Amino acid sequence: MATFLARSALRAVSQTPRLAFPKATTSPVALKSWAQQPVSCRFLASSTKPSEQPRLRLGSEAPNFQAKTTHGEIDFHQWLGGSWAILFSHPADFTPVCTTELGAFARLAPEFERRGVKMIGLSANDLSSHKRWIADINELSSTNLQFPIIADADRRVAFLYDMVDAQDLSNIDEKGIAFTIRSVFVIDPQKKIRLTMMYPASTGRNTTEVLRVIDSLQTGDNMGVTTPVDWQLEDDVIVPPSVSTEDAKKKFGTVREVKPYLRYTKI
Ligand code: BEZ
Repeated sequence: MATFLARSALRAVSQTPRLAFPKATTSPVALKSWAQQPVSCRFLASSTKPSEQPRLRLGSEAPNFQAKTTHGEIDFHQWLGGSWAILFSHPADFTPVCTTELGAFARLAPEFERRGVKMIGLSANDLSSHKRWIADINELSSTNLQFPIIADADRRVAFLYDMVDAQDLSNIDEKGIAFTIRSVFVIDPQKKIRLTMMYPASTGRNTTEVLRVIDSLQTGDNMGVTTPVDWQLEDDVIVPPSVSTEDAKKKFGTVREVKPYLRYTKI
């Protein structure tokens, strides 16, 4: 029965004509028509057509865009420069989980700065709303949020980064538009996406994990090593299979061989 219902739903979706995702120049009327399609028609399309959400993979170039932010208009690639960065998104301003997350990221700004990582947030509301929301975040988290927040009221950047919810069809705002997923993108100085995290609207992210992965990525890039489960800075690292034990000893000194394929060293 469930299979029958799923097949019928898919058939219904595939038979519904789809409107292409609007271009930057699209009129507000066309944008509204696109947004008023059933969520499934907007987002369950195959990945081959340019009008659909791009499928970003680890190693993909972070797509460029121009957007209004609380620090003025930016060209994202220019803003990145040659720096590490995190782009993290929120479904909406003045929502409880998002408010706690942004406060936590703001308080951790010195940790990101120490690692040379620029921060930029995104939420699907306009600038005036963001500015009022930041005042609340600062009050509630006793912080002083300094990084820009993108005003993505039309979900244009969310769409470009494959952050519009297609899985949870009940995750829609009062206008029936799919919320932006809670996502984190870690972007390296070559503008490559190195980490993606996607969380459901109900679950706040773990800021410590974001910092931990950045430490792992930067350590891996600098030292040519990998890191084991639950690794933290100062813990032993792994000699990757591509490096012989002999070469690892030359480079790092002591190598602890637990199995021929599992070798630890200190850096
Ligand atoms: C939140 O708590 O952050 C949230 C609530 C409803 C929709 C989206 C986000």
